[in-house]
Amino acid sequence: MNDSLTRLRELREKAMQGGGAERIKQQHDRGKLTARERLALLLDEGSFQELGALATHNLTDFGMSEQRFPGDGIVTGFGKINGRRVAVYAQDFTVLGGSFSEVQSTKICHIQDLALESGIPLIGLNDSGGARIQEGVRSLAAYGEVFTRNVLASGVIPQISVILGPCAGGSVYSPALMDFVIMTRRGSYMFITGPEVIQSVTGEQVSMQDLGGTMVHNAKSGVAQLVAENENEAIQLTKLLLSYLPQNNTEDPPQIEPYDPAERMEERLNAIIPADENEPYDVREIIQAVVDHNSFTEVHPYYARNALVGFARLDGYSVGIVANQPSFLAGVLDIDSSDKIARFVRICDAFNIPIVTFVDTPGYLPGIDQEHYGIIRHGAKVIYAYCEATVPKISIVTRKAIGGAYLAMSSKQMRCDLMLAWPTAQIAVMGADGAVRVLYRKQLAASAEPTKTIREFEHEYREKFFNPYMAADLGQIDEIIEPKETRPRLIRALEVLRTKVKQNPPKKHGLMPV
Ligand code: HXC
Repeated sequence: MNDSLTRLRELREKAMQGGGAERIKQQHDRGKLTARERLALLLDEGSFQELGALATHNLTDFGMSEQRFPGDGIVTGFGKINGRRVAVYAQDFTVLGGSFSEVQSTKICHIQDLALESGIPLIGLNDSGGARIQEGVRSLAAYGEVFTRNVLASGVIPQISVILGPCAGGSVYSPALMDFVIMTRRGSYMFITGPEVIQSVTGEQVSMQDLGGTMVHNAKSGVAQLVAENENEAIQLTKLLLSYLPQNNTEDPPQIEPYDPAERMEERLNAIIPADENEPYDVREIIQAVVDHNSFTEVHPYYARNALVGFARLDGYSVGIVANQPSFLAGVLDIDSSDKIARFVRICDAFNIPIVTFVDTPGYLPGIDQEHYGIIRHGAKVIYAYCEATVPKISIVTRKAIGGAYLAMSSKQMRCDLMLAWPTAQIAVMGADGAVRVLYRKQLAASAEPTKTIREFEHEYREKFFNPYMAADLGQIDEIIEPKETRPRLIRALEVLRTKVKQNPPKKHGLMPV
């Protein structure tokens, strides 16, 4: 073999070793895979095309000349997932803690550019201690290059970030700019400043887990959308998400071979709404009965549980599902659920995925905190997202659609294509309790023994308004259907709407109330 080939093979071999055998062992001892092992799980066998495997930094300060590793702590390139092309990067914690360098940035930016130009999804596997401290402000500029490309690609190609270790400092913002963030239940953290810095600045003591652990971001901050039990599951979730999404915003999502009869009716849906209007039920049961068997994947399941969003299939086609969840806070719309719904609606709209909305909400949540923290601004996001969306939109009112929330949850006046209601629907301007107190205040106060009790007034109000018939009479509801018919009705409607063409007025961009 000639010298040039020997040199190449040696360098490639070194690149395969990352930070070396000892660091790899440490990584494994922590229950973590290496960057290359992760990519092997993610990509179809033999499909990976690596780029920049031999790139290294040229720094000499801080002993860096002794710490040169081919690839510089990140593996980047292209591959296929279930036969579909993707661009990928995986940070290698075994090299300088996966810290983010100029070279890392150049490598990521290259695949970001190629992914955007070729219209293929970008997936980032993150495991990094943040900006490489030895590089000083170089790594700050390097982040800026990546963020810019994340933003330019937003809404054009799907971008998914998987957090498989620490994700600290500037490293958090690239995932935050992407469409989905997946974290593993253990060993996955995101924070802009770690516990030590927080203690020195504010005096607060907190563990990494309590500061930026998986459940903090999935249940509280809303930064992450999915929790995986381990790395393998995180990677499988990534593939699952991609299966619902198109390669880019000019394509439709892939249809899979239908496997569940389109005309299937679910008799049990006719009895699923409890007789007592205040009794909760789990809207997941309705969704699972309606969509293709086992096709529902909930997104953001731990955050703002009074709303539910996720992907499913109807007759093999991807749909986005949005629903109020009566089993949590009665399905009320509040600040966090508004953010959750608005974000998901925009993702569906960007990627040509029709939206099916199940409505059962008593309205926007009253309260001083809600008002002071901006329920008006956040609630407006739901209205904005639904109005702006041009994909097919179908709503089904299963029970309560009261007040502003009736409008916000994809009403006909807000460009919903088809509005269905079950006979149990209650479409009214406000709840019976509040309404009679306003309407009959004088009668109720007039005498100690009014001719009608408050209960009788409420009953009268309910009889008149707590049904879908007035809305149907006025054309606000297109059809009242038996609950069991929901699946075939949706599939037929979506078939018609598949060729829907609707455009918004030309503009640079709207001013969503963020
Ligand atoms: C250079 C780093 C590094 C970094 C870790 N390492 N982070 N090297 N720059 N940012 C190195 C460590 O020195 C160590 O090398 C090796 O990686 C493994 O790190 P450990 O600390 O031993 O691992 P662990 O105990 O698991 O802790 C991981 C960690 C911790 C929690 C990520 O390393 C950490 O707190 N790092 C700093 C996190 C941080 O504050 N980043 C913010 C940077 S500023 P040796 O050779 O000793 O084993 C930033 C601002 C940008 O990002 C803002 C842009 C908008």
